[in-house]
Amino acid sequence: MIPFINVRAQREAYKSEFLQAEQEVLDSGCYIGGPVVQALETELAEFTGAKHVITCSSGTDALTIALLALGLEPEDEVIVPDFTFIAPAECVMRLGGIPKFADIDPETLQVSAKSIEARISKKTRGIIAVNLFGLCAPYREIKEIAKKHRLWLIEDSAQAFGATQCGQNACTFGDISITSFYPAKPLGCYGDGGALFTANDELAQKIRLIANHGSQTRYVHEICGMNSRLDAIQAAVLRVKLRHFKDELKKRSENAHKYDEFFAEYNRNIGSAQGSASHFADRAKIVPQKIADGNTSTYAQYTVLADDRDAFIAQLERAEIPYCIHYPMPLHEQPCFKQLAQGSENKNAIMASKKVISLPFCAFTNVEEIIARLKKVM
Ligand SMILES: Cc1ncc(COP(=O)(O)O)c(C=O)c1O
Repeated sequence: MIPFINVRAQREAYKSEFLQAEQEVLDSGCYIGGPVVQALETELAEFTGAKHVITCSSGTDALTIALLALGLEPEDEVIVPDFTFIAPAECVMRLGGIPKFADIDPETLQVSAKSIEARISKKTRGIIAVNLFGLCAPYREIKEIAKKHRLWLIEDSAQAFGATQCGQNACTFGDISITSFYPAKPLGCYGDGGALFTANDELAQKIRLIANHGSQTRYVHEICGMNSRLDAIQAAVLRVKLRHFKDELKKRSENAHKYDEFFAEYNRNIGSAQGSASHFADRAKIVPQKIADGNTSTYAQYTVLADDRDAFIAQLERAEIPYCIHYPMPLHEQPCFKQLAQGSENKNAIMASKKVISLPFCAFTNVEEIIARLKKVM
């Protein structure tokens, strides 16, 4: 069976490095925070160019800590994309805030700046933009809106550590940016993990305080914080993976282009078969997520929009190719958000939830084999 994400092949590829790094931590007696975690934070700062990097227990914690550091109060409104993983909206709601759902662009699937602006009210305090599937949100427009309306901006780069936009690295666009090291992420560890990034000295200090029980001096707690720290063993795993990360990003990009070429040819065949006896004449188009100009994606997911998703799923199942639906419904339709008044309809988020489907993808995915299988059934 083809794995959806081949984390085991990656483990095999760098196994001796992992074993050595893991053993060193186990022998050190220092299991939470400490020198390995500090070294990782320095390396993450070097990689992204962020001034401050603070690791924590997960991407979800990173969002919660960011909202606390920015002073979210109950009933404050925060604009989040309607089409993404639940975490940004969930964290706002958990802290008593109100998520307001903005629509997306129908091709890049990124949150629409125009829709963000349309959701702003007197109660709006900030925006959480998500770099969906590894592509950066349109930050030039979003930052202009944030500035004009005096809103803070959180960049949720859980899926896009390693992406760039106009030469600038992901994780440097927000007042606070966050990422996730969940195992399936482009840079993932062997459990939960996350990090926050900021250029602001004061925010960095607050973030460190919140993530460590509100304490700088042992058993002196300046504020009520939380326990959200990265384990040293996860930092050791991440440091090994970070050494290979640029090569992996290159491989991911090459793999994505192979899929892109396959779907471009498939859609061309459909176009030229209209009215003919070719079997392509009754096929529906399948279009990959558009990578906007000036961006490099991490392809956290290789996601396509299938005009007839059920037919494509039947073909994938016949070819024994695994798939995932990221995401089957817009957030405003989730049972936990149903009580929130939505206002105007997010038609692109609804459309995407009906058409999206993600294919097996990572630096170790054998895309040629998948394409060969697809050619037999499509
Ligand atoms: C966009 C986005 N934000 C936040 C998160 C939360 O990250 P974690 O699973 O590390 O809590 C995820 C995880 O999938 C995500 O995709």
